[in-house]
Amino acid sequence: MRRRRIYEGKGKVLFEGPEPGTVVQYFKDDATAFNNKKTGTITGKGVLNNRISEFIMSRLNDIGVPTHFMRRLNMREQLVREVEILPIEVVVRNVAAGSFAKRFGLEEGGRLPRSIIEYYYKSDELDDPLITEEHITAMGWAATQDLDEVMQMSLRVNDFLQGLFIGCGLTLVDFKLEFGRLWEDEEMRLVLADEISPDSCRLWDVESGERMDKDRFRRDMGGVEEAYQEVARRLGVLPEAGPLDLKGPKTVQ
Ligand code: C5P
Repeated sequence: MRRRRIYEGKGKVLFEGPEPGTVVQYFKDDATAFNNKKTGTITGKGVLNNRISEFIMSRLNDIGVPTHFMRRLNMREQLVREVEILPIEVVVRNVAAGSFAKRFGLEEGGRLPRSIIEYYYKSDELDDPLITEEHITAMGWAATQDLDEVMQMSLRVNDFLQGLFIGCGLTLVDFKLEFGRLWEDEEMRLVLADEISPDSCRLWDVESGERMDKDRFRRDMGGVEEAYQEVARRLGVLPEAGPLDLKGPKTVQ
């Protein structure tokens, strides 16, 4: 049966779900960086990110952080609730790296005095500019009250994820979250949406400092597939059949 494609992004395709108010998220192996200036394929990434994000979103649901996640359907797909995505990316940082290190002329790797939250406006044409709370509320992208909730949830996710990853020998350097509005009986709730995976987190091995995330792709460091597999293995979600299984069915209907 052909499904209606709602949206195709850089790493995922969204299809209309089986019931109203549901969406199927299909995870691709395609990788992009620097706002599409660099493109490539990370074999098995879709299969691994589907599993990693399922695991993390389920644990967050368990501790009472509302998310869009419902259940994993197969190797590359998961069923999620349909939400209205806020046009902002929330970045939480624990250690100086990436654009933060560059912006302030810092060496990568210094622990920040406290976790820092940043907001970016989601716009490919504008290269996702850094924005302030003032921009968000004045432009009507989110109300002050909603933004307070987003900030509180983001810090809670940060606390939880730092603990989860440290238990796997990984330092959570920084990560990006997206939130959506979920409508239920005329009531609006904000929930965590999109995905949480090595595509959207910086994860460094505690012992060696080795990067275990998409920076390996962005910076042509090699060993990209292996890094994603190692994160999945440490979280205990590597598909049983191992790497051979990772190519998975690629057919998108
Ligand atoms: O590039 P920058 O240092 O601002 O990225 C901060 C964090 O947000 C990194 O973990 C990166 O993977 C994530 N990010 C993302 N999608 C973007 C921008 C950043 O997942 N569009």
